[in-house]
Amino acid sequence: MMNWCAAPFQSGRDPQGLISLRVKDLLSRMTLAEKLGQITLVEKNSISKKDITARFIGGLLSGGGGYPLPNTPASWAEMVNSFQEQALRARLGIPLLYGVDAVHGHAAVWGATVFPHNIGLGAARNPELVQLIGTATAEEMVATGIYWNYAPVVAVPQDIRWGRTYEGFSEDPHLVAALAVAYVKGLQGEEFAGRTAVLATPKHFVGDGATAWGSSTTEFQGQRYALDQGDARLDEAALRAVHLLPYRAAIEAGALCIMVSLSSFNGLKMHAHKHLLTEILKRELGFRGFLVSDWEGIDPISSDYYDAIVIAINAGLDMVMVPCDYQRFLDGLTRAVERGDVPIGRIDDAVSRVLTVKFQLGLFEHPFANDALLPSIGSAEHRALAREAVRQSLVLLKNDRALPIPKDIPLLLIAGAAANDIGLQCGGWTIEWQGKVGDITPGITILDGIRATVHNPSVVRFDPEGQFADIPAGGAEVGIAVVGEMPYAEGFGDRADLALSPQDREVIARVRAKCKKLVVILISGRPMIITDLLPQVDAFVAAWLPGTEGQGVADVLFGDYPFTGRLPYTWPRSMDQLPFDSLRRKLTGPGEPLFPFGFGLTT
Ligand code: BGC
Repeated sequence: MMNWCAAPFQSGRDPQGLISLRVKDLLSRMTLAEKLGQITLVEKNSISKKDITARFIGGLLSGGGGYPLPNTPASWAEMVNSFQEQALRARLGIPLLYGVDAVHGHAAVWGATVFPHNIGLGAARNPELVQLIGTATAEEMVATGIYWNYAPVVAVPQDIRWGRTYEGFSEDPHLVAALAVAYVKGLQGEEFAGRTAVLATPKHFVGDGATAWGSSTTEFQGQRYALDQGDARLDEAALRAVHLLPYRAAIEAGALCIMVSLSSFNGLKMHAHKHLLTEILKRELGFRGFLVSDWEGIDPISSDYYDAIVIAINAGLDMVMVPCDYQRFLDGLTRAVERGDVPIGRIDDAVSRVLTVKFQLGLFEHPFANDALLPSIGSAEHRALAREAVRQSLVLLKNDRALPIPKDIPLLLIAGAAANDIGLQCGGWTIEWQGKVGDITPGITILDGIRATVHNPSVVRFDPEGQFADIPAGGAEVGIAVVGEMPYAEGFGDRADLALSPQDREVIARVRAKCKKLVVILISGRPMIITDLLPQVDAFVAAWLPGTEGQGVADVLFGDYPFTGRLPYTWPRSMDQLPFDSLRRKLTGPGEPLFPFGFGLTT
């Protein structure tokens, strides 16, 4: 038998068509069990290690918060390598694909560089920057043995009440497409050449950003979702013009894996949507990679799990994220093939797609972590890139001669818990699935950055609640209030009301009384309702979720760099203007927005 791991291999380009020959040959040697294992994707805490070998499992993943203990880069590498060893022990020695949601850097890893979430990159509008971020993220991933990133999100969010708004670059499909292309190229490199490339996964196909408020039926850990996993109600022409557009671009840029959405399109679950998955994506758009399901994505198709499996695979799904009960899935799929409910040709097609990508990635040649890259995790170079991304992502909404702040300012008051909290400025998908406040990973808070920027003998006073009892009214030249949203991710972040919290409003009022010029910095995953607040504020900065490099905020506040960011989403005046209609490019409710798409002052 051929030893596929030792076979001479040419990663990336395949001018002689060697990969398709290898795939055909390998497929011809595979038993049904080996084939079905290859298209099964399991969450790493749910797998019994020996089953990776015994059931020929093709993929494993760390879901949100799926880090090893201790959460260090070295233990990530060790964990993933040990799963890989297990897979290579199987008869054919086909390597595992291990996946993770490195959606703003390899952010589940303690010490990794955390870049601004995509909303900030949408504000920066700089494809070269996004490509560099993709490359840096890939390097940090490969150092831990992970060659598969569930990113980028290429949703075109229509309703900023959606808790995944910040994962999307913009409400404008063309901007999403341009940045998605850059991100895919950054992650994958030149057709996976070299040892730093990872597989990108544009997601979630399709229309995840178009769901109607209240249409979700998902309930998880006591949380009823409102938009997430809901129903997109629009006609196919609108779906194509807005939501399909970034996929077309990503496929042209070389995307070889696409994740299917947990949402529905006009009442039919996307995981069951043969027309969109097979007829449009695979046939019409010519997608040659593999389609992966989302978390338990086939379960809601039918109350009968057997039917759900049959429908999903026949609809065009190629690899299924089971993720906790692979036995049930494998048993059901085996039966479905034996009975002829799922044709073996469909299985062979799915397995061939997965194997082709594994060959293209070079996984047979280098299945393990690239230790040489371990120092790249959180390196000075990557942090400098993230800091530059922060600078470019800031959007200045108002400036009444308050910015830039002179570095020799005698007294600067800083208020708001968000000024000094790494977890808060990173948001969701950072260490934990939903993110977490506090000192969760090394980084520079906005306050650290400000302190490092002012000149001696400036005095910087910080109080999270804005209590400066000893300062007389108007006693400071400038005050800065940093306010915003607590971390959240999918489902839990769906919010009916995007007003600032009463606590944040109090903080702002307290600092307002003590300073001549008040600057408000908003840390949030989306625009919030600030209409009545704006007249009381001298300068207002939308900083989104900047990540670990808070120094980038100070760089711009104090004038070392200009404000250049522009709004990637229309900023509403009131909640009743929502949602946005991406086809007609306007808010659906009455009146003009507070700030239009593309707004941003420069300094
Ligand atoms: C999310 C996906 C993610 C997956 C794996 C799901 O809940 O919808 O975006 O890739 O989990 O963590």
